[in-house]
Amino acid sequence: MERILGSLDRRTFLSAGGAFALSLGGFSALGADAQASSFSPERPVARLDPRRALKPLAVNRVTVKVGAAKPFKVMHVSDTHFTFCDARDDSRKQKLAASRIKGMRRGEHYLDEAFRLAADEGAVLMHTGDLIDFTSKANYDAVVEHFAGRDSFVCAGNHEFVPYFWETDKEDAAYKAKSYAATQANFPNDLTFAARVVNGVNFVAIDDVFYYTTERQAELFEREVAKGLPIVLLCHVPLYSPELFKVAFKKWRTAAYLCGVPDGMMSRYKKRQLEQQRADKTTMDFVSRLRSEPLLKAILCGHIHTTAFDRFSPTACSYVAGANYAGEAQMVTFT
Ligand SMILES: [Fe+2]
Repeated sequence: MERILGSLDRRTFLSAGGAFALSLGGFSALGADAQASSFSPERPVARLDPRRALKPLAVNRVTVKVGAAKPFKVMHVSDTHFTFCDARDDSRKQKLAASRIKGMRRGEHYLDEAFRLAADEGAVLMHTGDLIDFTSKANYDAVVEHFAGRDSFVCAGNHEFVPYFWETDKEDAAYKAKSYAATQANFPNDLTFAARVVNGVNFVAIDDVFYYTTERQAELFEREVAKGLPIVLLCHVPLYSPELFKVAFKKWRTAAYLCGVPDGMMSRYKKRQLEQQRADKTTMDFVSRLRSEPLLKAILCGHIHTTAFDRFSPTACSYVAGANYAGEAQMVTFT
């Protein structure tokens, strides 16, 4: 962030050039773009080791035909997982931040890289959840600093509503409500349901972070359908499809962490994951409705920290962005 870095001791690294490829379970190959890298060293629990150069942002480039008025790009990132915390939060939160920082300290760096690439290529940056790892005042500040006044669109992730980890087995509407207002106040658009038209394509962002959707969201979706535009759905938790289920279950082992998984596919789930992820009728009906909607042309999502895609419906594929904190992103060209 230029605004942050401008008044600080700025350090800039040039990442190694060249390109590399990743193969993920038979799914899409990733092409990497070499980019200049920078980070803001003022955040006390996120300080990067200046002796270590970071790998460049790995950008999976895909083209999706949706019927746009003219071709345009979306920089799709997910799961940045800011882990910032300071003296404004309590010692329990600070311990949590210290324990979570190890694997995720590069989130801000790679988000900056994604914004930089988006600006270079004239893309709108869309973030599909887990921008923060837990609720904290410093994390909220970081969200505002990075997104205020920038061309972006977001949906919520489950971590957006988590004050501390493992404090409850029941992640439901009541649990979400405890932090919803504070989180929403710092995010750039409505986290329950939002819609934005770009070049004749209707991007619809919904909250499915705790594996359920609501009747109200289903009603609002029908209003978007009535507009008659091609729809691209943004949701954090990927919606069930057979191949995506295989990839996600192989990665996470105890469950697939998808939304709308049929009961018959959950026989190997652990008890806790089953209680957490079994969808109610309202959710299953909505997922079924989405599958039958011909205007739905694509789904952008995240959550499983693996770059993947799979066909969701006759007209739409799911495009899952890998974890941004791990240096992954997708540049989607819509035509
Ligand atoms: Fe995540």
